[in-house]
Amino acid sequence: MPSTAIVGTQWGDEGKGKITDIYAAEADIIVRFQGGTNAGHTVIIGEDKFAFHLIPSGMLRPGKTCMIGNGVVVDPVILLKELDELKRRRKRTGKLLIADRAHVIMPWHKIIDGLEEELKGKLKAGTTMRGIGPCYTDKIARTGIRMADLIDSRVFNEKLDLFIPMKRKIITAYGGKKRINRKKIQSDYAKYARKLRDSVVDVSLLINKALDKGKNVLFEGAQGTHLGIDHGIYPYGTSSNTVVGGACTGTGVGPSRIDRVVGVVKAYTSRVGTGPFPAELKNKTGEYMQRQGMEFGTTTGRPRRCGWLDLVMVRFSKRVNALDGIVITKADVLGGLKKVKICTEYKYNGKRMTEFPANMRVLARCRPVLKEFEGWENISQEEWKDICDKGYKALPKEMKTYLGYIRKTLDLPIEMIGLGPAREETMDLRGKRTPLA
Ligand code: GDP
Ligand code: IMO
Ligand code: MG
Repeated sequence: MPSTAIVGTQWGDEGKGKITDIYAAEADIIVRFQGGTNAGHTVIIGEDKFAFHLIPSGMLRPGKTCMIGNGVVVDPVILLKELDELKRRRKRTGKLLIADRAHVIMPWHKIIDGLEEELKGKLKAGTTMRGIGPCYTDKIARTGIRMADLIDSRVFNEKLDLFIPMKRKIITAYGGKKRINRKKIQSDYAKYARKLRDSVVDVSLLINKALDKGKNVLFEGAQGTHLGIDHGIYPYGTSSNTVVGGACTGTGVGPSRIDRVVGVVKAYTSRVGTGPFPAELKNKTGEYMQRQGMEFGTTTGRPRRCGWLDLVMVRFSKRVNALDGIVITKADVLGGLKKVKICTEYKYNGKRMTEFPANMRVLARCRPVLKEFEGWENISQEEWKDICDKGYKALPKEMKTYLGYIRKTLDLPIEMIGLGPAREETMDLRGKRTPLA
């Protein structure tokens, strides 16, 4: 398999975890390139369900090397918990390495995340409260702590001396009551440093060396294109670059080293958080999608808002990521609806709009233009699995029409179709001759 990047094309939770796990079978290295513990990537193998926040979704493949790139913000508390749990549940896993240049989430980032959300009022994003925004803010402001600093107690303690008084001032100015306990932080983080020290490496160097030797790397994106800091629904998105460009800066490779970009597209749209959502369904159909798709946040447990598939969004993602192909997930979830619809463009002030706007006030007033399709039956997970085994021909004919429209409109091959949450409930069309591939 050539080196491939996997990115979300919508607002996250497209099923990137499951798809990364599948592509990982053919990769030598699997690397997360941005985001942090805001991500929740689910991988289900048989009866076993894993929800990864920081650990790359290739870790369930024994023998693989997994890496956390420098573009990720690392919360050592959660990382160590995840690693412990994984060790408890699985004897054989991949091996994990962490970039020395990755930034560390500190207790004050979580405190400030909460305070800023309060103060932002209408402009709050409904963050995961994991300290993501404040940690990236410190990275850009050059007041951050990196993994390389964490494992060097001299540098780490010097940074605590400088930054803790600054952060105390900010927390007080924001009206915060929580205290920063310097002594506790110093001893807790020294413990984390001891546990993680041997895994901290120069990820860029290792990846480039591996690529030189002809190995292949799978770049695992978190969140989705429309949550990204530059191309997402600012200010309601997250603080990292979720597009494929983030895979270069977030791991230390040049763009020519990524051979292919695959976009994960959920067969409908979901959103956890605030902000405009043109194709949203605030009705029984939206509730049906939420129920059937079990659309509750992997990280926060919040219910996800649901709506029709929005191709204005996905076309945008095709452009900014230069997608080579797509994977459509959760097509099974729409089973049982009499009609299914796709948003093909927006109407704004009575006029057609074909491109996703930057202005949130405009986006909030965009109405979806919908194309209607016949629905397909709601069948059991067993039956979907059976269809996966049989291949393209066995798909319900209405679903073929629906997927065929997406394939044609986006002019991108569909590499896989997700028909259930488990690894096995996926139809792989790579290398097959079908109208979708
Ligand atoms: P990610 O953040 O993109 O990795 O996605 P999440 O794991 O947060 O959310 C996707 C949810 O849908 C998880 O609960 C998955 O187990 C589930 N899922 C993934 N693919 C499919 C699919 O094709 N069909 C169904 N029914 N569920 C799926
Ligand atoms: P995965 O990788 C869905 C959303 C939050 C909030 C906004 C900013 O599982 O697809 P943050 O905590 O990052 O500052 O929150 O972004 N958000 C996600 N929504 N899936 C995710 O990750 C998300 N990560 C962040 O709900 O609106
Ligand atoms: Mg998720």
